[in-house]
Amino acid sequence: MKIKGSGFVIAGGGSGLGLTTALSLREAGARVGVLDLKQGEWDGAFAHADVADETGVDRALDALASEIGQLRGLINTTGIGHSGLSAGPDRKVTAEGFRRVLDVNTLGSFILAQAAAERMIASEADKQGERGVIINTSSIVAFEGQIGTAAYAAAKGGINAMTLPLAREFGPYGIRVVTIAPGIFETPMFSQARGPMVDWLREQVIYPDRPGDAVEFAEMVAHIVCNRMLNGTVIRLDGAYRVPSGRHDWWVD
Ligand SMILES: NC(=O)c1ccc[n+]([C@@H]2O[C@H](COP(=O)([O-])OP(=O)(O)OC[C@H]3O[C@@H](n4cnc5c(N)ncnc54)[C@H](O)[C@@H]3O)[C@@H](O)[C@H]2O)c1
Repeated sequence: MKIKGSGFVIAGGGSGLGLTTALSLREAGARVGVLDLKQGEWDGAFAHADVADETGVDRALDALASEIGQLRGLINTTGIGHSGLSAGPDRKVTAEGFRRVLDVNTLGSFILAQAAAERMIASEADKQGERGVIINTSSIVAFEGQIGTAAYAAAKGGINAMTLPLAREFGPYGIRVVTIAPGIFETPMFSQARGPMVDWLREQVIYPDRPGDAVEFAEMVAHIVCNRMLNGTVIRLDGAYRVPSGRHDWWVD
């Protein structure tokens, strides 16, 4: 899929990894719209929607279509964190909290992928038979979650698990599905967290020995968009970081 001139929606493009991706795709000549709860610093086409609400997502994608034209790429970088112990005297995670994390992170990814695929299936394929690419964002916490991340890990694991079945289903239409599992990236989600545990986590990245830069995430998105052989897979983007065991208690959602 070529970037220049193609229409992309970045869900979660109001902040962090999504904002940098939206800016970088626009810089490369794409027609970019952002779907988010907040516009943040994004100054282009914008539609407000909660990704867990399928009617709102449909409405937002229709509204953005008038600005970006045919949808060729759906990049989902929305997400919320949630941490806390599941049982015992310091128990914090409730069924309601768990459900909300699944609703936004997992169900939201499915709703976006479904809505995007419907629009791509109804479009003309390019000369190579490709109609579009859907890129989701999970987390390496899905593979090695710390104590206190059961809800977030389960939600992100669900995104990883749906990647292959969706790629297999959408493949005959010329639509690819790929998931990026980031390690630690310096974004508002991570930078707001403070304390010895966070400093220690930062030190666990092997090489480069620093958290990722959102530009490096955007470069991965651009590569996936352009490389047709990338499909049905989950790509770790983590500088060889492996989440150590230990207690994770710095998310407040
Ligand atoms: N930053 C990291 O270190 C890191 C590591 C692993 C995975 N991730 C994942 O990468 C993605 C982006 O993270 P980020 O650090 O850029 O976070 P961020 O908080 O800066 O950006 C997330 C965006 O998603 C939007 N959003 C949240 N809930 C929404 C909803 N229900 N509907 C619509 N929009 C919603 C927010 O408004 C925000 O603009 C998330 O899925 C996150 O879980 C981040």
